Amino acid sequence: MKKIGIIGGGAMGSGIAQVFAQAGHPVVLYDTNQDALDRSKQNLAKTFEKLVAKEKYTAEKAQEIQDAIEYASNLEAFASIDLMIEAIIENLDIKKSVFKQVGEIVSENCILASNTSSLSIASIASACTNPERVIGIHFFNPAPLMALVEIIPAVQTREGLAEEIKALIQSVGKLPVITKDTPGFIVNRVARPFYSESIRILEEGVADAETIDFAMTSLGGFRMGPFELMDFIGHDVNYRVTESVFESFFYDPRFKPSFSQKRLFEAGYYGRKSGRGFYNYAEGVEKKAPNQDQALLEKIYKRVLVMLINEAADALFLNIANREDLDTAMTKGVNYPKGLLKWADEYGIENVQNDLDELYNHYHEDRYRLSPIIRNMVKENKTFY
Ligand code: NAI
Repeated sequence: MKKIGIIGGGAMGSGIAQVFAQAGHPVVLYDTNQDALDRSKQNLAKTFEKLVAKEKYTAEKAQEIQDAIEYASNLEAFASIDLMIEAIIENLDIKKSVFKQVGEIVSENCILASNTSSLSIASIASACTNPERVIGIHFFNPAPLMALVEIIPAVQTREGLAEEIKALIQSVGKLPVITKDTPGFIVNRVARPFYSESIRILEEGVADAETIDFAMTSLGGFRMGPFELMDFIGHDVNYRVTESVFESFFYDPRFKPSFSQKRLFEAGYYGRKSGRGFYNYAEGVEKKAPNQDQALLEKIYKRVLVMLINEAADALFLNIANREDLDTAMTKGVNYPKGLLKWADEYGIENVQNDLDELYNHYHEDRYRLSPIIRNMVKENKTFY
């Protein structure tokens, strides 16, 4: 079994350590903060207490898994690892210095991976003397529960490494997809319109948050509406991701952040965790009832859906990932009820084209430009599947 070294014992690092330990790998978890290591160990003990109570594991097995994780406050413990996964603070300079440092301690064959959500793997790899062994392995939160893992080979990554990592990730019971080293990888790129188009609809005064959420859950089958979801994720996190994707795309207007969300972020109205976001979570405050006008709900649902489909189609057009991986990413990474390309076939490719062309003709804004792949498919009478 490969020995896994994890850097950063926060939410992600601890979850990733659990995933590998459960699959029988010896794990070393390193953090510069002893409190973080203690917390990580205690949380894992609580998790396994529950799993034993639910009879998912025997007490012996649960102990064996916990014993497989060594908590280290010294990087020397990484000397014998086969794969390092870094899950520290999202800061390029700090990540680079960690990769450089670890690269000098581990063996030559040790693979070095980052769990970054927003930084380019190429930039992180550039800090290592042998960058061909660096790759992105992006887990979703909470790692033990979310099946999806995005694998991101950088321009420097050696041929074949992505496939090796894919097999390893499958062997620990996860669903890997391979994606290009471009901003937001798959999920954080393709999901943007779910938030941005919904906010745009709100800003235009077409409907309130309650009604837009209701349209997306009742007609779209999404588990949470966009405003509930943004409040749940937190506007500190969601706004920052939106801003970083926008900047990283050289300010493509398709990814433009909104003032509505920026102001919530600036006000400290982060959502549920701060008691207020798009909604007010103070005790006694009830949500307004949504508008039940079917024509309005249909209009909202279709507008957000075709924007999402267009984003997924464009990612396929630009070879960010293959068809199956694009659909798996959205159903397993953010629990969409259907893959967007499969959904496009059901909705009708020509309907997608017509709806988007109508939006573009109305607004004359670049954000509504149709991906060329859709226009070609309509011409050739093709479907995605
Ligand atoms: P966190 O803040 O919970 O944990 C980070 C941990 O790293 C802390 O325990 C801190 O003490 C430690 N750390 C910081 N600098 C260090 C250093 N130089 N050496 C060793 N340890 C150090 O952060 P979280 O949420 O676990 O995120 C970690 C990484 O995972 C980030 O790159 C983030 O973008 C990525 N990520 C986060 C997701 C999320 O939903 N939270 C989802 C997917 C990826």
